[in-house]
Amino acid sequence: MIEIKNLSISFGDQEILKKIDLTIRENQITIIVGQSGTGKSVLMKSIEGLIEPVEGSIVIDEKNLFELNKHELNETRKKMAMLFQGSALLDSMNVYQNVALPLIEHTDLSEDAILNEVTEKLELVGLKEVLTKMPSELSGGMKKRVALARAIILKPKYIIYDEPTTGLDPIIANEISNLILKLQSQYDIASIIITHDMDCIRKIKGHIIMIHDKKIVFDGTFDDFNNDERKIIKEFVK
Ligand SMILES: Nc1ncnc2c1ncn2[C@@H]1O[C@H](COP(=O)(O)OP(=O)(O)OP(=O)(O)O)[C@@H](O)[C@H]1O
Ligand SMILES: [Mg+2]
Repeated sequence: MIEIKNLSISFGDQEILKKIDLTIRENQITIIVGQSGTGKSVLMKSIEGLIEPVEGSIVIDEKNLFELNKHELNETRKKMAMLFQGSALLDSMNVYQNVALPLIEHTDLSEDAILNEVTEKLELVGLKEVLTKMPSELSGGMKKRVALARAIILKPKYIIYDEPTTGLDPIIANEISNLILKLQSQYDIASIIITHDMDCIRKIKGHIIMIHDKKIVFDGTFDDFNNDERKIIKEFVK
């Protein structure tokens, strides 16, 4: 479980988030929505321990992120996978090398075992034929899927998707939404999805959190979100 309490984040005198409280439960999909620039990516980066808050705490599996030493922080980060807003594949490495990288860095598996793991994960995302291709030879949707295979290779407990379907055509976007649901059902995972994409939200129907004007203005089920009469939510849902 991730528990965020009284969290405020600023850059210089620009206040981004103000005293927010938020709980991310295990085996659940949490969808974070809000207009562009409201601090969704900033919130996710702070959960990864990449941005320090002005005040408040982020407790991941009972450990306060900002009280951990370097080793403990690394161990906690290993439980969390992040699919960045761009796919963030390394352009100089082929698909196999990209997906294998976390295993090479964090485990002492043999080459054969790594090849097995990588092949299995690429199969899961429907891409086992692209092992030796370079990222530049892949479409946007394929890059996302390779990034997804890499994100799950260390069997994370939490996976954070930052705009997983943005910039993809509706058919590919729908495939990615299906893939997120498939991973959720096959692995014991808590998924956190940041998105603007109402098609993706309608399909996945997770627990919805909406950030607006530095605060959380909605925290509840998809159905309640869909029926909320407030203007900022109606404008978003339409
Ligand atoms: N490292 C940084 N230094 C200074 N300001 C930053 C930094 N990162 C983000 N910001 C600012 O914080 C605000 C929130 O940014 P963030 O990227 O979280 O928005 P977002 O909600 O993810 O938007 P989008 O939907 O467009 O991705 C923006 O005003 C941005 O300029
Ligand atoms: Mg963002």
